[in-house]
Amino acid sequence: MLRFSNALEAVHKSWLSFQTMTTKMMSLVLLVLIGVTHSLDNGLARTPPMGWMSWQRFRCNIDCKDDKYNCISEDLYMEMADHLVSDGYRDLGYEYVNIDDCWAAKQRDSDGKLRADPERFPSGIKKLADYVHSKGLKLGIYGDFGTLTCGGYPGSKFYEELDAQTFADWGVDSLKLDGCYSTIDDYAIGYPLMEFWLNKTGRPILYSCSWPAYVVFSHKIPDYAAIAKSCNIWRNYGDIQDSWGSVTDIIRFYGNDSGNFSSFAGPGNFNDPDMIIVGDYGLSFDQQQVQMALWAIMASPLLMSNDLRIIRAESKAILQNKMAISINQDPLGIQGKRVYMVKTYGPNLRKNNKFEIWTRPLKDSRFAIAAVYYGTGGGPTRQMTSLGKIGLTNQNGYTLTDVFTGQPAGKYSLNTTLTLRPNPSGVLFFLAVPQ
Ligand code: GLA
Repeated sequence: MLRFSNALEAVHKSWLSFQTMTTKMMSLVLLVLIGVTHSLDNGLARTPPMGWMSWQRFRCNIDCKDDKYNCISEDLYMEMADHLVSDGYRDLGYEYVNIDDCWAAKQRDSDGKLRADPERFPSGIKKLADYVHSKGLKLGIYGDFGTLTCGGYPGSKFYEELDAQTFADWGVDSLKLDGCYSTIDDYAIGYPLMEFWLNKTGRPILYSCSWPAYVVFSHKIPDYAAIAKSCNIWRNYGDIQDSWGSVTDIIRFYGNDSGNFSSFAGPGNFNDPDMIIVGDYGLSFDQQQVQMALWAIMASPLLMSNDLRIIRAESKAILQNKMAISINQDPLGIQGKRVYMVKTYGPNLRKNNKFEIWTRPLKDSRFAIAAVYYGTGGGPTRQMTSLGKIGLTNQNGYTLTDVFTGQPAGKYSLNTTLTLRPNPSGVLFFLAVPQ
C-alpha cells in the first residue's frame, strides 16, 4: 500500500535546513527533489467521505465555562458521535467525526508534540479516538500546513513528520490540512510532503487538503493533477456560511468548473465544496433540498456541520434520504455537471431568475438529474426540456423517480417533452433508470 522514497526524506531534511532561504529558492530546490515517484495510495475515499465536522456550526467557540454545551471540547465530539449512532446516521454511511480548528493547546509540549487543550479535552485525543472507534465511527482532526492554523493554533510547518506520527499514534483516521500562515509557493511542496509522512506512519489517514482553495483565492487555476496525486479530497473554494447566498455561490463555482476540476473526481479523489449546512439556520426547507441534491450530484463529501442534538425532523429526513445518499455514493465517482442554464422571465419578470439543470452519470447507465430554480418571486417556474436535450442517451428512454418524495415521476423517451416546475430557490431531483 505504501510507497516511500529516500529522496522524499531528503526533501524533508532540505525543508528543515533551507528554512533560512527565501521561499522561492526553497521551493525550487524542493520541487526538484520531490519530483520522485510518489502518490497517495491509502485506499481511502473510494466514494465521497460522509460524516460530521464542527467548524461551520461551532466555529472556534472555546468558552467552555459559560457555553459548555456549544464549545469545542471532547464532550461535543462524543455527543455528536452518540447521535450519529443512535439517530441512524452511521448506518447510512456518515462515519467520520471531524474535529476542526481550535482543539489544540496554544503551545506544543516539551518534546515539540501537538497536544489537545488540557481543559477542554482532559482525556486527550487518543481517548476520544478510542471512544469514537468503539461506536464504529472514525475520527478526523484538523491541522495547518503553515506556521499557525487559521485560528492561531500551532501549525505543522517544519513539524510534518512529528505531527503525522502523533496523529497516527492517537488513532486519527482523517486529517484536514489547512493553508493559513503560509505562502502560495509552498503548497506544492508542503502538501505532498505531509502526504509522504502520513503514508509513512502506515496508518491509512484520509487526507483533505485546502491547497487549491488558496490558489483559487490568488486568482490562479490550481494544478489539480498534482493535488489529486497527493490528496483524497480538497477544498477548492471559500468557506461555506449559513446562508443561501453562500450555497449558491459555491454551486456557481462548481458549475463554471474553471480548470475542469470535475474531471479529477473519481474513487479516491473528490472535490470538496465544504460542509453540509442542512439543519442549521440559514436555509429554507427547499434550499436545504437544493444543497443535498447538488452535493449528491457533485460527488461531494457529505460532512454535516449542524447540531445533531436538536435537529428538526424535516432536515434529518433530507440528510437521511437513502436515494440521495446512494447517488452521492455512486461507485463510479463521476462528478456531475451543470448542463443547462437559462435566465428565465418568471412571474416577477426579473432577469436574474436563473434556472439550471445538472446531471450526473451513475452506475448501470443511470443518471441523477437536478433542476434548480433561483427565482425569488411568485411560485414555481415552468421549464420545458427533454432527456435527449440534457445529454441522456438511452434510445428506449428512462423511468424517473423523484428522489425526495420517492414517488414515480413518469417514463420518458429521449425526445418527449419533460415539463419541470421547481419551486423558487428549490430543486426537482430525479433518478433516471434506463428502460
Ligand atoms: C479555514 C477553513 C475552514 C475552517 C477554519 C478554521 O477558514 O477553510 O473550513 O477550518 O479555517 O480556522
